[in-house]
Amino acid sequence: MLTTNTDFLYGELMDVLRLFGAELPDVAHYFVHDGYKFANSVIVGGREYDFTEEMPWRGELEFKRYAKRFSKLALYKALRAETGKEMPWGALTGIRPTKLAYAEREAGRDFFPLFKKFCVSRENAELVADVLSSQEGIYAKEEGTADLYVGIPFCPSKCNYCSFITADIGRTGKYIGGYLDALEKELDAVHGIRRLKSVYVGGGTPLVLDAEALERVLRAVAPHIAAGVEYTVEAGRPDVFTDEKLALLKAHGVTRICVNPQTFSDATLVRIGRKHTAADIYKAFGMAEKCGFDINCDLIAGLTGESLAEFKDSIDRAIALSPANITVHSLCLKKGAKLKEEESLLFVADIEKMIAYSREKLYAAGYKPYYLYRQKYMAGNSENTGWTKAGKACVYNVDVMEEIADNIACGANAVSKRVFFAEGRIERIGSPKDIPTYIDKIDAIAEEKRKFFA
Ligand SMILES: C[S@@+](CC[C@H](N)C(=O)[O-])C[C@H]1O[C@@H](n2cnc3c(N)ncnc32)[C@H](O)[C@@H]1O
Ligand code: SF4
Repeated sequence: MLTTNTDFLYGELMDVLRLFGAELPDVAHYFVHDGYKFANSVIVGGREYDFTEEMPWRGELEFKRYAKRFSKLALYKALRAETGKEMPWGALTGIRPTKLAYAEREAGRDFFPLFKKFCVSRENAELVADVLSSQEGIYAKEEGTADLYVGIPFCPSKCNYCSFITADIGRTGKYIGGYLDALEKELDAVHGIRRLKSVYVGGGTPLVLDAEALERVLRAVAPHIAAGVEYTVEAGRPDVFTDEKLALLKAHGVTRICVNPQTFSDATLVRIGRKHTAADIYKAFGMAEKCGFDINCDLIAGLTGESLAEFKDSIDRAIALSPANITVHSLCLKKGAKLKEEESLLFVADIEKMIAYSREKLYAAGYKPYYLYRQKYMAGNSENTGWTKAGKACVYNVDVMEEIADNIACGANAVSKRVFFAEGRIERIGSPKDIPTYIDKIDAIAEEKRKFFA
């Protein structure tokens, strides 16, 4: 249990506490400030740890930012002393490491000292430096630009780890017609409201739609596609690929698709409910390659019951296929996933070794990290990293992770974002999660979205 005398710090402190797992004694935290002095005391296991930092601040926002930073750091150091455990990203929680690095650079400072202060490992700080270098030429804050997201919340079946708002098409297939009618209206309403940098049709599993329905989506997106714009379809699970559907994507100017193995182990694929085999992955990959798409492959480290040897094999096999991008996720235990009902805490024995192996092999094969992000409840407190061959970084992923362009998101549960660069603030607007509600309210949703971006 955690107690603190300062309410607005509770959530931040809990994020740090969570890094250290469940077996901790009660923790008491006290915060006081005196001018520019921030003093934090942490009492844990009968010992008291005191930390004082001095930092000039102006305005309540800045005061709170430093208060949060220093209290998290104090708790992290106390728990590190108490447990003897180090975390790969130290006390960094609640902010994307790359965003923090960019903020430091914009303030005219090297970000390494701040990362060091936050106890981030040198290796991870270097990973962030490599991400920033991969983003050169793509990272651009331009007012009035946007990326378009189109959500297709249908899947062939539900994977046990997945918490995305998608459902088994066997149960929700009856809504496809209505959903596409609504999507067409929404896409029509947002046409031309921004200059688009990229388009991403995601899910879910867009290729679970039959060719006719898929073509309706592609036709509705077509007016948004300007020459040279990156156009991704998260085709997704290898069990839904057909030559006919891939030819449709090609004919509509799609440039990049995802062929996602998650793992190449047939035993794991069964365990996680993916309903396809490693042989299907090779087949789907071959079909996609023949069409000349840039291909992304998603893998997950830490899947239920998967050994280090199996994960290493998946990395080796993904590299051998030589796709433009490989994304290595760390298993995350999220509400809404079947896995979350089965396990309340995530412990993956070799996760650090898995991540270390993926980094070593991907660097050696000529891939560079180009985006990374972290989430709560990730195995090993690690990260998700997108890797790319030279010149193949996905603009959509960079823009979304770094929040450097508006995001016009269409479909059920889609969250649109508007970035106000000068004020350093982002506004969001979300659509209903539930497909029938999205369909029923589409006129109001479309109107609201137009106003949001006006
Ligand atoms: C929105 S999903 C769509 C992918 C597509 N439907 C498929 O399964 O191939 C995008 C990616 O998120 C990752 N993912 C989903 N749930 C995850 C979890 N709980 N932990 C880690 N990665 C997860 C998977 O790698 C997945 O490919
Ligand atoms: S991982 Fe992909 S296929 Fe599996 S449930 Fe999630 S979105 Fe659907």
